[in-house]
Amino acid sequence: MEKAKITAIFGKSGSGKSYLTKEILSKYKGSFVIWDFIGEHTGGIIFDDLKPFLVYTKQQIRYKQKIRAILRLEEEYFDQVCFVVKEIGNMFFVIEEIEEVTINGKCPKNLASLLRFGRHKNVRILATSKRPAETPRLYTSQATMLIIFQIREPIDLSWLRKYAGIDIRKVQNLSIKHHQWMRKRF
Ligand SMILES: Nc1ncnc2c1ncn2[C@@H]1O[C@H](COP(=O)(O)OP(=O)(O)OP(=O)(O)O)[C@@H](O)[C@H]1O
Ligand SMILES: [Mg+2]
Repeated sequence: MEKAKITAIFGKSGSGKSYLTKEILSKYKGSFVIWDFIGEHTGGIIFDDLKPFLVYTKQQIRYKQKIRAILRLEEEYFDQVCFVVKEIGNMFFVIEEIEEVTINGKCPKNLASLLRFGRHKNVRILATSKRPAETPRLYTSQATMLIIFQIREPIDLSWLRKYAGIDIRKVQNLSIKHHQWMRKRF
């Protein structure tokens, strides 16, 4: 089995984060849960309430079926979803706009636990964000791969240089029109 990974995708609005996320997901044949904050994904069962999602996961597990869920829920449910993902294991967990569910760069409890121990439950995590400087340090420090589209915000550029050793001139020069990106593995 492939080692579960944590991928962090950064880039300004419209740079291509969700498009690339969909491409990566389309090659993935297993179970997935997508925290789809602004409704960018299709290709799974869409839930706008927690309860039906919980019923669905139980049913899929019972009948040994894959979970393919797209969640458009209030942010107050985020940590509960992380708990469920951790309990079920063996899946791809996508978090769109991670900075929207982490207040002041703090990780909710179950997200923190997923980032630390998700690998042991074979949970692969991919999260997108416009603002690296606003994402939890735990998330970026655990990331096994950074994918960076164009970013121009000075705070985010210094963050990328300081914490990830990224050459920020390269980040500034990535073409937004051509959805160019660069990556760094850890
Ligand atoms: N590699 C690509 N080839 C062609 N079109 C692309 C590519 N990447 C992105 N696009 C298109 O560019 C637009 C913006 O891409 P996308 O929605 O992925 O940006 P984003 O970074 O997720 O933005 P936001 O932060 O606002 O959610 C979309 O219409 C998408 O279809
Ligand atoms: Mg997007």
